[in-house]
Amino acid sequence: MASTWAFEAQGPGSIPGGGATISSKTTEPEVKVSTELDVAIVLAAGEGTRMKSQTPKVLHPIAGKTIIEHVLDQVLVLNPKQLQVVVGHARELVEPEVKKIAPKSTTVFQSERNGTGHAVQLALADLTATGTVLILAGDTPLLRHETLAEFISAHAKSKNLVSVLTAELPDPTGYGRIVRDESGAIVAIVEERDASDEIKNIDEINTGVYLFDIAALRDSVAKLKTDNAQGELYLTDVISDIRSGGGAAAAILSYDYTETLGINDRSQLAECIAIMRDRINDLHMKAGVTIVDPTTTWIDSAVKIEKDVTIYPNTVIWGDCEIGTNSVIGPFAYLRPGTKLAANTKVGAFVEVKNSTIGEGSKVPHLSYVGDATIGSGSNIGAATIFVNYDGVEKHRTEIGDEVRIGSDTMLVAPVRVGDGAYTAAGSVITEDVPAGSIGVARAKQRNILGWVLRKRSGSKSAIAAAKAGATTESE
Ligand code: UD1
Ligand code: CA
Repeated sequence: MASTWAFEAQGPGSIPGGGATISSKTTEPEVKVSTELDVAIVLAAGEGTRMKSQTPKVLHPIAGKTIIEHVLDQVLVLNPKQLQVVVGHARELVEPEVKKIAPKSTTVFQSERNGTGHAVQLALADLTATGTVLILAGDTPLLRHETLAEFISAHAKSKNLVSVLTAELPDPTGYGRIVRDESGAIVAIVEERDASDEIKNIDEINTGVYLFDIAALRDSVAKLKTDNAQGELYLTDVISDIRSGGGAAAAILSYDYTETLGINDRSQLAECIAIMRDRINDLHMKAGVTIVDPTTTWIDSAVKIEKDVTIYPNTVIWGDCEIGTNSVIGPFAYLRPGTKLAANTKVGAFVEVKNSTIGEGSKVPHLSYVGDATIGSGSNIGAATIFVNYDGVEKHRTEIGDEVRIGSDTMLVAPVRVGDGAYTAAGSVITEDVPAGSIGVARAKQRNILGWVLRKRSGSKSAIAAAKAGATTESE
C-alpha cells in the first residue's frame, strides 16, 4: 500500500478557462480534510444482475464488511453535511444495512432502475442544499477517503462545475470511457455499450466518482435523455451537457487504479477481495506482525493483532478476533469471530477456534477445535482435543483453568469445567467437572489378550514378527 496518492488533470489546458494542472501528493497516509463537503450521494439501487446472486450486490462481503459498508465508512470520514443513499432493488435488505452504518443518512427510494442519471434526479428532488455534491457508486469498495479528500480539494481549487475521477485500467472493458479533445480536455463519457471500436481502445475510464456544483447538476440532469444502448438516463451524459453549455469540467486521473475498481460480477468481486487482503496484510506487517505468506493469509478488517505475532501460511482470521503480542498462529489455522488470544499464545496447525478466550502463554498446538471456551493461562491443550460445544440444539461453554494439561484426543463435553492445575488423561471423554489438581480419566481400561495374533492370525507377517520377538500362542 505505497502512499502515492496523487492526481493530475491530463494534458495542458484540460480545464477550460483555468488551464491549471492539478497535481498533489500526500506523504502521510492520513490526510486532513480541509474541504467542506455539502452533500454526498451514494448510488446503490441497482440489482447487480451480473452477480447472478440472490444477495443484493452491495451486501456481498469483503474482509468481513459488506461492499456498501466499505464505501460508506470512507464517505463518513469526509463528514458530509448530508448523506443520501439511493436504494431500490432489495430495499428491505439494503436500507437497514445503510441505517446501521450511517444512522444519520437519508435513503431515497428508486422504485424503477432507469439509470444512474435517474437515481440522481430522485436524490436531488429530495434535496434543498446548494454547494458541492460528491456522487459515487455503492459498488466501488476499495476507494479510500484519503483519495476522495484529495479529489475534493483538487476540485475546490479548480472552481469547475464538475470533476470526474478517472483511472487507467489494464483492462477497461465494461467501464465508461473518457473522451478528451486534442487539448486534453474532457468532452464526454461514453459507455462501453455505446462505444465505437475507436473509443473502446481508450483505457482511461470513468470511476463513477464525481463532484458537481449542485445547481449546475440540477439543471443538467433535468435534460437527460434515454437515447442510448441501455435506454437509461446516464449520469455520465451530464458531462458533455455541462461542457457544451460552456461550463468547466475536469477529468482527474487517479494514480492507483486498484482503488477505483467497481464490482459488477464475481470475478471482479474476487479481484477486490484479493486487493483488500493485501492491503490489510500490509497494514499488519507495517505494524510489526510477521505474515509468512501474505497471499494465503486472510484477515478480516475488524481483526486486531499486536506486534511480534507470527502468522504462518494458509490461515484465515474472521470477524472481531484479537491476537496478543508474541503469539504464533500455525499453518492452516482458522480463527473465527470472538476469538481472543492473550500474549504468547499458540494456535497451531489445523486448529479452529471460535468465540473463545485463550489466556497468556496457553497453547493449542495441533488439530483441535476450540469452541465457546475460556482457557486460563499457561495451559496446554493436547493434540486433537475437541471442545464439544453443541448438543444439537444449544451451544454450551467450557472453562479451563490455569496451568491445565489436557491430554491428547480429549473430548470436553460442555458445559464442563477443568480446574486450575488439573489434567485429563489422553482419549478421555470428559462429561463431568475435573476439580483443581486432579486428573480426569474417562476411558475404558485397557486389557491385553496375550497370544491372540499367533492363534487367530497364524502364518501372517505379524505372527512371524511376534514369534521372533518371543511371543507364543499361550494366553497365560
Ligand atoms: C457506471 C458508469 C460508468 C463507470 C462505472 C464505474 C453510468 C451510466 N455508467 O457503469 O461510466 O465506468 O459506473 O464503476 O453511470 N444505480 C442506481 N440506479 C440505477 C442504476 C444504477 O442506483 O438506476 C447504481 C448501482 O447500484 C451502482 C451504480 O449506480 O452502484 C452504478 O451502476 P452500474 O449499473 O453498476 O453502472 P456501470 O455499468 O458499472
Ligand atoms: Ca458498476
